[in-house]
Amino acid sequence: MKPNIGIADKHMQSVSNLLNMLLADEFTLYVKTRNAHWNVTGPGFSELHKFFEEQYTLLDEVIDEVAERVRMLGHFAVATLADYRQLTRLTEDKIDFGKQESILRTLLDDHETIIRVLRSDVTRTSDEYKDLGTSDFLTGLMERHEKMAWMLRAYLS
Ligand SMILES: [Fe+2]
Repeated sequence: MKPNIGIADKHMQSVSNLLNMLLADEFTLYVKTRNAHWNVTGPGFSELHKFFEEQYTLLDEVIDEVAERVRMLGHFAVATLADYRQLTRLTEDKIDFGKQESILRTLLDDHETIIRVLRSDVTRTSDEYKDLGTSDFLTGLMERHEKMAWMLRAYLS
């Protein structure tokens, strides 16, 4: 049944497309953070191993919330690896696991990419698609990524 919540059908479709792309980004970053958790080496291993676990746990929650937001708008959440690969704006270029700095920098770059996307989507969802619920959700999400990015950046400075 189609939601009757005061947002035009075509706008719910556009917002769902935007959220599914975000879902692909979040899933890709989740896998990259898992990779960091498993494969990091060197001094401070134990600390970083735990730190990356905290971050992928947060991303796991984000993934679920983004997918369920798509369902609230009456559309289906993208849920195949093939689709994520096609939709994501992040890359899966090989990380140099020999250097902790390169792992941290790669993850930081990805968070910052997502933050920039979110900043523009917050305005688009409210102004263009009149979906204040999604706009509010994305604002909160942007703040969560800003915090995760700060923590990654703190290891680098
Ligand atoms: Fe683990």
